[in-house]
Amino acid sequence: MNKPKLRLGVLASGRGSNLEAIIQACSSVKIHAGVEVVISDRPQSQALEHARRNQIPAIHLDPRAYSGREEYDEAAVRLLREHRVDLVVLAGYMRLITSRLIGPYKNRIINIHPSLLPSFPGLHAHRQALEWGVRISGCTVHFVDETMDQGSIIIQAAVPVLDGDTEETLDARVLEQEHRILPQAIQYLAEDRLEISGRRVVLKSPKPMAGVNVISPLIEIGL
Ligand code: GAR
Repeated sequence: MNKPKLRLGVLASGRGSNLEAIIQACSSVKIHAGVEVVISDRPQSQALEHARRNQIPAIHLDPRAYSGREEYDEAAVRLLREHRVDLVVLAGYMRLITSRLIGPYKNRIINIHPSLLPSFPGLHAHRQALEWGVRISGCTVHFVDETMDQGSIIIQAAVPVLDGDTEETLDARVLEQEHRILPQAIQYLAEDRLEISGRRVVLKSPKPMAGVNVISPLIEIGL
């Protein structure tokens, strides 16, 4: 591809496994992108350590240094601009973002969420899924707008919920899929293949796909 790489700015609060998956996908050239800056609201976020280990600028942006969420997001935008970021990736970023960030990056912010949205938005998605008793859960990458977890959906992956699952076991099963769909979503954007049409995101020139169904528990009657 002759196009320059898509310049990513990753915002993360926690363990940073999705950031790692992105960095890995970039360095193995599975995606035509590069992480230019990692910003975290939490100084102890492992995402900052992963970034430093990969020689990526890692910035702790301390919420206490700003008078409110708007001012905080303005500071984030300044940093993203300094690093000439094309696409903002929320990878386990646990702060609500405001129009001060969404405005300048309209349709250029994506988020990964650990449920099949619109089910179980917000915090503790796995706890919500287990309490509800769903048999299939999963993860979603979506564009970020002013709503919480309701922006247009780019890609989803489903996993079974098994009897005896805990938040931890379900998290591990879902996370494996997060690490696949987030880099894939970034690559769709790098290839400029997404068209937003109302709530629907249409993938241009998709590969032909067989009708694969995910059913849980298993069908045992030979159908
Ligand atoms: C991931 O499961 C991600 O989907 C979730 O936080 C985790 C971060 O893991 N995000 C949200 O719940 C956002 N509402 P990571 O730090 O290892 O990538």
